[in-house]
Amino acid sequence: MRFETECNYTAKRFSLNIFITSETPVRRSFFEVGRKILKIVYCGDVVGRAGRDAVYNNLSLMRERYRADVIVVNVENAAHGFGVTPGIARDFLDRGADVLTTGNHVWQQREIVPFLDECRQIVRPLNYPETAAGRGATVFELANGKKILITQVLGRVFMDSVDNPAFALDRLLKNYTLGRNIDAVLVDVHAESTSEKLSLGHYLDGRVSVVAGTHTHIPTADAHILNGGTAYITDVGMCGNYDSVLGFDKQAPIDRLCQRYNGNRLEVCRSNGTVWGIFVETDDKTGLAKSVEQFSLAGGN
Ligand SMILES: [Fe+2]
Ligand SMILES: [Fe+2]
Repeated sequence: MRFETECNYTAKRFSLNIFITSETPVRRSFFEVGRKILKIVYCGDVVGRAGRDAVYNNLSLMRERYRADVIVVNVENAAHGFGVTPGIARDFLDRGADVLTTGNHVWQQREIVPFLDECRQIVRPLNYPETAAGRGATVFELANGKKILITQVLGRVFMDSVDNPAFALDRLLKNYTLGRNIDAVLVDVHAESTSEKLSLGHYLDGRVSVVAGTHTHIPTADAHILNGGTAYITDVGMCGNYDSVLGFDKQAPIDRLCQRYNGNRLEVCRSNGTVWGIFVETDDKTGLAKSVEQFSLAGGN
C-alpha cells in the first residue's frame, strides 16, 4: 500500500506538461506491474479527410503503444469539416475506435440523426434539450467487466444556447460514483472559452477521471492532474492538417480577414494530417487519474 502511495505522488508530480511525439517512447509506470489501471486514449476533433486518414493510420499504433483499453475519438468535423455521416462513423468503429464524441456540428449531416439513436457508441452533447436525437452519455464495457462512462457537454460562451453544462453533468453523475458503480468517467468539454473549460474542470475535480476540452482545434500545453485527482486539458487539439486554419485551406479565411469577402467556400484539407490526443491512466480503485500525457502522431498521407 505504501508503495502505491509513493508512486501515485510521483505520477502526479511528473504528469505536468508532458508532451510526446511519435519519436518519444512512452514511459511505462510502476503501476503496470499489477495492471491495476485503465488506459484511455482520447483524440481531438477529426477534420475532413486529412484528419480521418491520420486517425485511421494510427488506430492500431495507439492501441499497441498505449495498450489502450478504450480509444475515444471526436468526429464532429469528420465529414468534409462539418458533422459526421453514419458511414464515416462506422468506419471509425470498424477500424478500432471504441466510442465517438461529436460537438456543435453534430446536426450538419442530417443522415446522422437516426444513427445517433441506433448506435450506443456515439454521443452528442448532453446539455441539448432532452427531446434531441441520440444520447449525451454512454457506458462502454470492457471484456473484463470494467465500465467507462463517456459524456460530452457544450460550453455556453460564444456557443449555441444550451442548458448549463455543470448542472447537466450534476444530474448525470447522480447515477454514477467513481470507484463504486463506474470505473472511469471521461468528460469532453466542447467549448470556446478557456476559462469556462477550466472552471468546469475544477467543478468536476475528484468526481470524474478526465476532463478534456475540444472544439478550438488548437492543442493547449496544460495537461495535468488537478488537486482532486481529475486529469485535465483545456484543448486536446484537432486531428487534421496543421498547415491550415483549423483544418481548412488557408486562402478563404485569409480572404475573409483581408477583404471582408465571404464568397470563397471553406475547403477542408485532404492530406498531411496529424493526430493530437491524450493518454490517461486511471486508478483501479478510485477511478481517478494517475497520469496524463499529451501526444501527437504523424498521419502518413
Ligand atoms: Fe465544435
Ligand atoms: Fe471541431
